[in-house]
Amino acid sequence: MTTSVILVGLMGSGKTSVAQELGGQLGVQVFDTDRLVEKEAGMTVSQIFEASGEAVFRTLEFHALEQCLEEAAPVVIATGGGIVSDHRSRELLAAQSGVVYLKVSSGEAARRLEYETTNRPLLNDDVEGNLRSLEIMRGPLYEGVAALKVDVDTRSIEETAETITKWLKGQS
Ligand code: S3P
Repeated sequence: MTTSVILVGLMGSGKTSVAQELGGQLGVQVFDTDRLVEKEAGMTVSQIFEASGEAVFRTLEFHALEQCLEEAAPVVIATGGGIVSDHRSRELLAAQSGVVYLKVSSGEAARRLEYETTNRPLLNDDVEGNLRSLEIMRGPLYEGVAALKVDVDTRSIEETAETITKWLKGQS
């Protein structure tokens, strides 16, 4: 593995789980920008949105991404679903060769997130409707920065990680 792998995609696309699985398969360190932001701020994602607003969260998220990409060895990075909505993060992502878009449909994402909406302030009540809007806005942005797109609706976490591992082998 010669380049860091950065997973992007909607909430519920499985970025965190796939990153863990992939890190295990490749034997490399795994980072999660949401967790780094929470550590830096000493607050949960929801608390940051509530206390300081989304713009502050996006700045912290950009710095977390920068920090992960400064690692000496290649790593696997799970990002937050909205990272592409910040132009600084988007430019940084576009300059990387290992960005992978985990493409999930809004219906499948809503199903997967049924019990996991508490720390996701952008979902509110109409989870599927909100995800559908985000999919329309962000789909082209994910496509724009990614070198590989993996359809995850029909793949397990393990199958998704294997698909990425195979792609990486073909790259080196
Ligand atoms: C967000 C996605 C979340 C988290 C925050 C905002 C978004 O991450 O960063 O709630 O804007 O889509 P996950 O994609 O890991 O749920």
